[in-house]
Amino acid sequence: MNKFLLPLLALCAFLFAAVAYAEQPDVPADGIEMKNTKNPVVFNHTTHKEIACGSCHHKVEGKENYGKCASAGCHDSFDRKDKSVKGYYRVMHAKDMQYASCVSCHIETIKDKQDDAELKKALTACKGSKCHPAK
Ligand code: HEC
Ligand code: HEC
Repeated sequence: MNKFLLPLLALCAFLFAAVAYAEQPDVPADGIEMKNTKNPVVFNHTTHKEIACGSCHHKVEGKENYGKCASAGCHDSFDRKDKSVKGYYRVMHAKDMQYASCVSCHIETIKDKQDDAELKKALTACKGSKCHPAK
């Protein structure tokens, strides 16, 4: 075997890892206010740290993307009745999309915990949930 092959492979692996790492930005501090809907939501990354970034920050046209959900051209329609993929309300609540919405994953989370009424309310209720505590 060529004596340069192994170091070369090691270098490739390192560069690949470095690039992958560089593409992942720092996780922002808790308390992100999502104010585009009638009932705003405070989102915390620490309570979702077990979940892969890409479950929410999904790729756009094959490229890593950590932009805001409502960036221009993305989920930038705030009409609650907009059922297209642009609909901000829809992508946070729908149960039938390519990527998990907030609500679809919360429903999945409580699936085998149906007797925990408190958790069920916290994660899937509209009023009085952890998402919409006030309303
Ligand atoms: C459960 C869903 C979810 C997961 C998992 C998640 N995030 Fe987020 N992230 C969000 C939401 C929601 C926002 C707020 C977006 C907005 O303001 O539109 C956000 C915002 C961000 C922002 C700020 C974007 C901006 O321009 O303001 C960065 C950076 C970010 N996340 C990085 C990460 C990284 C890195 C990971 C994985 C270690 C991660 N996130 C995991 C949902 C998630
Ligand atoms: C892929 C799964 C998944 C997705 C997607 C997801 N969540 Fe969660 N969320 C969870 C889990 C798991 C918990 C913690 C449940 C527990 O208490 O053990 C949680 C807890 C929460 C809580 C209560 C804890 C806290 O930080 O106050 C809020 C609020 C919340 N999620 C909001 C959101 C919002 C808003 C979105 C969409 C932008 C979202 N989640 C998307 C899985 C998810």
